[in-house]
Amino acid sequence: MWTLKNKLVVCNWKSEPQSAAEARRIAEEIVSSAGTDDRVVIAPSLAHLSAVREIIGDAPVLLGAQDVMPDLGSVATGEVSARMLKDAGVSHVIIGHSERRRFFHEDDALINEKMRAALAEGLTPILCIGEEERLDPGLAAQACIDQLALDIEGIVSRQFIVAYEPVWAIGGNKQIEPEQAAQTIDGIKKYLATTESESPVPVLYGGSVRCDNILSLVYFDQIDGFLVGSASLHGDAISCIINKTRNPDRETR
Ligand code: PGA
Repeated sequence: MWTLKNKLVVCNWKSEPQSAAEARRIAEEIVSSAGTDDRVVIAPSLAHLSAVREIIGDAPVLLGAQDVMPDLGSVATGEVSARMLKDAGVSHVIIGHSERRRFFHEDDALINEKMRAALAEGLTPILCIGEEERLDPGLAAQACIDQLALDIEGIVSRQFIVAYEPVWAIGGNKQIEPEQAAQTIDGIKKYLATTESESPVPVLYGGSVRCDNILSLVYFDQIDGFLVGSASLHGDAISCIINKTRNPDRETR
């Protein structure tokens, strides 16, 4: 059962770090910062899933994956199925990240199939959407809704999470105005509410979330959590993000 007040923090390690030893070290820092918090997900590369799972042990931190194959049966060389991920202890899977759309030419039809494969195994997809160029919130929301409509077309389940990630704000120096992120997410949520839905779909924000801007985002009720890329590879930075997300009132804005 989702409690939207407890914002989720998802660590998207992308294609880092380069060794299992380093993955273990960073995971240890995250697990220790999270403490008894069960709203933190670490999504390492496939190569480091089992190392990170070992470090998580009995801690309530959740294990995520960064991609999943559509249901193609057993003849898809190089791919990893939703069932394999589940068996490896994964609960959440990022789908449709803009880097996969860009570098691996994933289109909405493929992403829709991946959503179905993940949901069929009981994994929680974290579906990434976002506009390519900086736009006004209304236009940005519309661009996201256009993507989202195709990505979930014909899918009845609402047991997934959306991550709003403006592509232009990922991994760089450009930052979104927090009000703009909240307004765009509001538009996305209004669209989701018009689709058949028994429970609200949480919507995260991602794109250069860091220790020094988390407080400007965390107060917006529209934002149900964060998808954090590069900052999640640095113990100090991700620990700061987790702490400020959990205890924002102790800080001044
Ligand atoms: P970033 O990445 O935090 O490094 O901008 C976010 C993401 O791509 O998920």
